Amino acid sequence: MTQRKQIIAGNWKMNGTLSETANLINGLKQKIISSSLNREVVLCPPFTSLILANELIKDTPFKLGAQNVHFEAKGAYTGEVSAEMLKEAGCKYVIIGHSERRAYFQEDDAFINKKVKKTIATGLTVILCVGETLEEREKGITNQVVKAQLTGSLQNVSEKELENIIIAYEPVWAIGTGKTATPEQANEVHEYIRAVISGGYSAAAAERLIIQYGGSVKPDNAKELLSMPHIDGALVGGASLKADDFAGIVLA
Ligand code: PGA
Repeated sequence: MTQRKQIIAGNWKMNGTLSETANLINGLKQKIISSSLNREVVLCPPFTSLILANELIKDTPFKLGAQNVHFEAKGAYTGEVSAEMLKEAGCKYVIIGHSERRAYFQEDDAFINKKVKKTIATGLTVILCVGETLEEREKGITNQVVKAQLTGSLQNVSEKELENIIIAYEPVWAIGTGKTATPEQANEVHEYIRAVISGGYSAAAAERLIIQYGGSVKPDNAKELLSMPHIDGALVGGASLKADDFAGIVLA
């Protein structure tokens, strides 16, 4: 069995002035000593903090990620930021398809697919979010929803390109609600995601795929979640804004 790397990413969302960014990163640098780190750590601050964050994480093992991207390289797209710009700012990762973007900004799978293709072509790694709402879970259609999101978002993505994609399974009902999926519930969907990838690509591609769990991950539930066989990391929202909490998850 392949030993997959575990990746913990902090999605700061629309939080983090420059001074808050500096405080948080300095706090993390004190709490997370690189020599003891066996997980990759990714910080995803807002666009305006990327340059500062990139400067502050020099000489640390932390990597930088963005929370969104546009699929065109440049042009008349007021308010948007391209993958090239993110790369230049120091990003290695881009979160795409987060449920908040799907819900509040009407992003659908076809739109997300364009961003995924462009981001990979630019040499960045995608953190592609999928997950069902509470209503969908209660209807018993979690697997169908997740499969449709995967299939739609990964249109014309080759097996080689897939190596630059991480999936984040984030049940919408668990995001920011304090309600975490149980380790078993999460692991079950992760296993299903691997089966979908195995069917669409190959068993080897499925085995390599890094699948993060996201949704109210906290220091006190991280260890149990991260010890599940199909959970390869976490995408952390609220708890990534406090150095103690995020370090607690990274070191769980
Ligand atoms: P949460 O957010 O950890 O605050 O639930 C997770 C996410 O939205 O990525």
